[in-house]
Amino acid sequence: MARADLLRTLGDPTRLRIWALCAREELAVGELQVIVGLGQSTVSGHLAQLRAAGVVVARRDGAHTRYAAARPDGQAPLLDLLAADPLPPGDALALQRVLGERDSPSPEGLGNDYLPGRSWEAFAHTLLALFPPLRIADLGVGTGHLTTLLAERARHVIAIDQDAAALARLPDTIEKRVGALEDPPLREREVDLVLLSQALHCVDDPLPTLRRCRDALVGGGQIAVLDLAPHPHAWVRHRLGHRHLGFADLGGLLRSAGFHDVRTDVVHVDRRAPAFTTVLAIGTR
Ligand SMILES: C[S@@+](CC[C@H](N)C(=O)[O-])C[C@H]1O[C@@H](n2cnc3c(N)ncnc32)[C@H](O)[C@@H]1O
Repeated sequence: MARADLLRTLGDPTRLRIWALCAREELAVGELQVIVGLGQSTVSGHLAQLRAAGVVVARRDGAHTRYAAARPDGQAPLLDLLAADPLPPGDALALQRVLGERDSPSPEGLGNDYLPGRSWEAFAHTLLALFPPLRIADLGVGTGHLTTLLAERARHVIAIDQDAAALARLPDTIEKRVGALEDPPLREREVDLVLLSQALHCVDDPLPTLRRCRDALVGGGQIAVLDLAPHPHAWVRHRLGHRHLGFADLGGLLRSAGFHDVRTDVVHVDRRAPAFTTVLAIGTR
């Protein structure tokens, strides 16, 4: 195309804007519409003229066609000069926003259940904030997520685990005691709450552990055991070191260990395979 024709094509301010945007990013018609604030037929018409002049090329990308600036033979120096011009600030901002939205799912894809800002983490922080500040012993810390969460609000947290490295990862505000769940290093009437979250299934005989936990509680103190309902997944023995494939009667175990006011609830049923069921058992000394 002769240089005069090329300049005529780019001489239209809107067309030049669209071309300059395509020189920055490969964009779909819808994205260009949002940035320049014009209707689809107007944007498509400009793109058709830019393509006819050879300064824009189209590429199919799934459901979209994307447009990018091209540099036809002999015109590169002139086009490079034009492309070096900064975008108008409004276009630069709108381009950034459009690119940012590419990575986020569309509201339609979020499902009917979606509520902006709602999360289990936010629920957990809210419920904890309503807790009285307790002295808590957390037995078997794992990643330490729960231990750390509890420490936000507790008067004192004692973390107990056989794995010294797991304990070392916890914040300084948490007291760490290396020890066995079979004989947890806790003194008589030392805490208000003992927590065993997905840890009791790691010991062969849960009763001595539960009795030691009861002794460590003040009168009226509580134990909370989160563990699995009976399940058939024997792989948890060698992969995760479980000694029990869930517990059929966590409440009965707590009563046998001397707890009263025992209650048990199914608190989570995972719908995805391997679909474990989580049971919460609470008892009072
Ligand atoms: C599954 S993790 C606990 C998860 C954690 N409580 C939570 O809810 O996220 C089990 C923890 O118990 C510890 N553990 C397993 N058997 C133990 C034993 N016999 N004595 C002491 N700690 C043990 C492991 O080192 C591991 O940190």
